[in-house]
This record gives sequence, C-alpha cells and structure tokens, in this order.
Amino acid sequence: MTEKINTIENQFTLPSKWYFENSYLEREKTEIFLKEWQLVGSRTQIRNPGEILLAEVADNPIIVICQKDNTLKAFYNVCQHRGGPLAYENCSVSKLQCKYHGWVYELNGDLKNARGFNKTELNIEDFGLQPIHVTEWMGQVFVNLSNSPQDLHQHIDEIKTLTSPIDFSDYVFKFRQSYQINCNWKVYMDNFLEGFHIPFVHPELNKVIDYKSYKTEIYERFSLQWCPLDSELSPYGKSENSKENKAFYFTIYPNIILNIAPGRLQTNIVEPKNSKTCVVHFDYHFDNPEEADIEKDADFSEMVQQEDILICENVQKGLESKGYDKGKFSPLNEQGVFHFQSLVKSSLNL
Ligand code: FES
Ligand SMILES: [Fe+2]
Repeated sequence: MTEKINTIENQFTLPSKWYFENSYLEREKTEIFLKEWQLVGSRTQIRNPGEILLAEVADNPIIVICQKDNTLKAFYNVCQHRGGPLAYENCSVSKLQCKYHGWVYELNGDLKNARGFNKTELNIEDFGLQPIHVTEWMGQVFVNLSNSPQDLHQHIDEIKTLTSPIDFSDYVFKFRQSYQINCNWKVYMDNFLEGFHIPFVHPELNKVIDYKSYKTEIYERFSLQWCPLDSELSPYGKSENSKENKAFYFTIYPNIILNIAPGRLQTNIVEPKNSKTCVVHFDYHFDNPEEADIEKDADFSEMVQQEDILICENVQKGLESKGYDKGKFSPLNEQGVFHFQSLVKSSLNL
C-alpha cells in the first residue's frame, strides 16, 4: 500500500484551536522555542568588550556579552544567589553586578565577589552564571537554549548565495521598533508568509513592488519571497546594480524574518507573549546610515505594519469564533504558509 504524501493540495490549515488554546503554546515553548536558534540582535550593538544585549526567549531572560577578546558569551540574566537580574537594559559594563544584593560577576560569567558571604560559607567557583549557546551569522547574533543545538549555519548559509551580490553582514544597527499585537504568533507568521494579501491589505506597498513577479521559494528550514523593486516610488534607495533592486523576504523557522532591500536590512523577531498575544520587534540596519533616508523607510514600514496588525487581530478573532475551524491553502500563493505549518506540526509531533 502506498503511503499518502502530505501535499499542499490535500492538506488543511492548522485547526483554529492551535491559535488560542494555552496547551499548544506550552508545547511550542518546549518543542520549538527552547530548541531552535533565536535571533536576539545585531553584532554592531555589542562590538566592544563589556557591551551587553538583553533578550527574552520563551520567558527566559538572556544576556549576551562581548568578551575582552571580542568573542561573545551568553548567559541566563539570572544571578545565582536568589535569581536577581544582572542588567535591566542594553549598556556597557566592566563587570556584571546583580541589581538585587550586589554579587559581582566577571564578563566571562565567573562569580568574583559574593557580597555577604565569606569563603567558608560559599565556594564562588560553584556559582558562576549559567551559560547558553550563542553564535553569529552575517552580523546577527543568535542564542539557543537547548544543550545540543543543531548547526544554524548549515541551515541558513544558503541565504548568502541567494542574496548575492547584496552582503548585509556589515550593515549597522540603528534602532528597534516593537509592537504588541493581539494575535497568536503563528497568525503573524502565516500572514507574513504570503504576498497573496498584498493587493487587498497593502495598496501602497502594491504600487512599489511588482506583484505579478512575486515568487515564493521553499527551502528546508527557511522560505524566500521576493520580487523586483522597479518603481520610483520605492521607499528604499535604488542600487546602481540592477541585480540588487529586489526586495527579499526570508522567513527562518520558526519566528525570524529578514526583510532585505538595497542598502537596508530589517529583521523581525516574533515573540509569543501568551496564546493570544505576540510582540514583534523590528530592528533596522543600514549599509550607509548617513546616506539612507531612514525616516522614509520607517514611515513606510509603519504604515504597512499597521495594515498587517489590523488584519492579524481580526483574523485572530475569526479563528477564536465558533464560525471557523480550518481552511485550505492556495497552491500557487500559499506555499510559504503550508511549509511553515508543516514544520510546526512536525516540531510538535502532531
Ligand atoms: S540575587 Fe543577586 S545578589 Fe542576591
Ligand atoms: Fe502584510
């Protein structure tokens, strides 16, 4: 007997309860967010020794620190005395001092001074910060909370070839804009993963891109949507090299988005907050920040984002209603959504 292969034609979209029942989010935290590499920011934010970058992964506070030899280390941002934080915000330090009772740690996580304890009461070598895996790729910093992470580079290195000759590894981080959105994180991902909605939801964006040439390509752990940027209306700079006048939208499983246009990279990190809410961070990076029209770029993104927020929050209501359970994928336009949902199912073993 031949086994039935799951194809986009014979599959349904995820059942709606996956988008609002807490049990699914709890499972996603364990099976996805505590296992997959998570983007936390740009290396240009922590270039010098002592510079620190804070993040949160599946409710775990994380601190990434540039070491004296300029390599990176990452730890839980949790003091081993009674769980206090070592920092409240991104900054530069010479030592890490807990904000609660003042224990002091070296940049490499070793406990140096346990205030209030003498040597007979506590062996400071046993109370270093808890380390986590950290890696860099194309100027971006990723952490992984599992003990034996898979190789991130092997999964996404092909992106370099696909965007060539654009090389965004030295683009400089300029600012972060964060949005709290009343929808499950997967609603946001599903929405991002298709350009099918652009003519309906984003009339201005539709003028800038060549929608008829819009393409989706599926790879093992990421997908790519791209289209030429032909119009003079483009809010991004125009490259001399016509090969670069494209917009690339990469989605790296599970929740990382790279929006690439000539001279600029905007990363989006989609963090679940609870089963019906997510926070999306937009980090803006530029090749030549002095020359880029950053305000125009940010204003345009803001308009598109507000349109996406409106549709995503309404889709969330639709999914929670009694009037819907599951639907179908357009084979021509929704391969990216199908790919993402298939990966979620396989992560959860469902
Ligand atoms: S919790 Fe850090 S010094 Fe007490
Ligand atoms: Fe959109």
